[in-house]
Amino acid sequence: MPSLINQVVKLVIFTVLAVNTTWASAQTWAKTTKSGKAHTTTLQFYFHDTTSGSAPTAVQVAQPANPSQYKTGFGIVMMVDDPLTLGPDPKSKLVGRAQGLYGSACQDELSLIMALSYSFVDGPYNGSSISIMGPNQVMHDVREMPVVGGTGLFRMARGYALAHTYSVDSQVAIVGYNVTLIH
Ligand SMILES: *[C@@H]1O[C@H](CO)[C@@H](O)[C@H](O)[C@H]1NC(C)=O
Ligand SMILES: *[C@@H]1O[C@H](CO)[C@@H](O)[C@H](O)[C@H]1NC(C)=O
Repeated sequence: MPSLINQVVKLVIFTVLAVNTTWASAQTWAKTTKSGKAHTTTLQFYFHDTTSGSAPTAVQVAQPANPSQYKTGFGIVMMVDDPLTLGPDPKSKLVGRAQGLYGSACQDELSLIMALSYSFVDGPYNGSSISIMGPNQVMHDVREMPVVGGTGLFRMARGYALAHTYSVDSQVAIVGYNVTLIH
């Protein structure tokens, strides 16, 4: 019997410790766990890139002298301030914004170079950001991009983002992101 009680006490202590070192946003788009000195955070959100219509969130700021020369839009640069939401529905909860530049960086296929800061506004992540810098071959099912740093809770972060296009039409592309960070 005493050993069973010991087991139960250990289990309770373990559970309390595990709960103490894990926090998740109420809406579960983000989850951080601590193991030793390192934190691991996973983020899941949707990126809404509106390039035309009455309220574009991505605007062209540069293009090559002769844009029609390139079938991939090579040389076109866009400045963006795109909402990041909990779900694919644009009206779902705002969890952050992606601000920065992307440009068409490949002559043979549609591939963008992304140079964006993703800053978050929800729960304990409010005010923290990550920087993504890398290629995005938009026609591929899943693209992997490096996370090169972060601020706030994500200071010194390294990690990667997996992006998958959820939907695309002439005005807006909605892209799902799964991000894994160590910080
Ligand atoms: C996020 O932080 C800012 C600045 O501290 C504050 O004004 C804002 O209300 C916070 N937003 C949420 C959703 O907590
Ligand atoms: C993101 O994670 C969800 C849930 O685990 C999964 O269904 C989805 O396929 C993942 N997407 C990518 C691009 O990894």
